[in-house]
Amino acid sequence: MYLHTPRLLVRNFTASDLEAFLAYRNDSAVAKYQSWSVPYPREMGAALIAEMKDVHAPKQGEWLQLALELKETGALIGDMAFCIKDDDVRQAVIGFTIASAYWKKGFATEALSTLLDYLFEDIDMHRVTADCDTENVGSWKTLEKLGFRREAHFVESLLIGKEYTSEYHYGLLQREWRAKSR
Ligand SMILES: CC(C)(COP(=O)(O)OP(=O)(O)OC[C@H]1O[C@@H](n2cnc3c(N)ncnc32)[C@H](O)[C@@H]1OP(=O)(O)O)[C@@H](O)C(=O)NCCC(=O)NCCS
Repeated sequence: MYLHTPRLLVRNFTASDLEAFLAYRNDSAVAKYQSWSVPYPREMGAALIAEMKDVHAPKQGEWLQLALELKETGALIGDMAFCIKDDDVRQAVIGFTIASAYWKKGFATEALSTLLDYLFEDIDMHRVTADCDTENVGSWKTLEKLGFRREAHFVESLLIGKEYTSEYHYGLLQREWRAKSR
């Protein structure tokens, strides 16, 4: 699977991505609000890459995780993922990660814009959703910049380690994306 943005090649993971993938998964700034904890085991990274490297089309109910390669250098700078909901073939959830050395350079916005074009225009999603920790300012600012609407604020709803954290849920409709892209 290949998608292009001006600066990025969005592609399947390959075995040679492992070291760069482990490097940003083991960065505590990157992991702070994510579902994994540091240290992130090498075996888990290798298993994830092995699972993702030959997936060429989305399967309902399963996450498809894509590598983000910087065209200029060939470096792996992050990944993004989507999952078409089990109970609705026209709704998808997205997730995204950029290595900290590349933060605040517009890469998440650029990658996700292309993913949203793919989801809404190529495979006709009706609605795309995302959620994040309320303290993950970079995440919700990125979502709002892309046009996502904050639809819920769940208070102390998610147990991370020993602490309950709060979450924002965001949604974006196909017609809203089209109106924004016009
Ligand atoms: C969230 C994340 C993907 C943002 O990536 P990024 O490439 O830095 O985002 P962009 O450069 O496209 O920035 C988009 C907007 O968010 C803002 N932003 C990004 N990070 C920010 C931060 N830490 N604090 C405040 N604003 C931030 C940018 O300034 C930009 O807004 P602007 O154009 O109005 O200035 C990145 O910080 C990351 O990978 N974090 C760790 C993993 C994670 O938490 N993923 C989200 C899980 S829900």
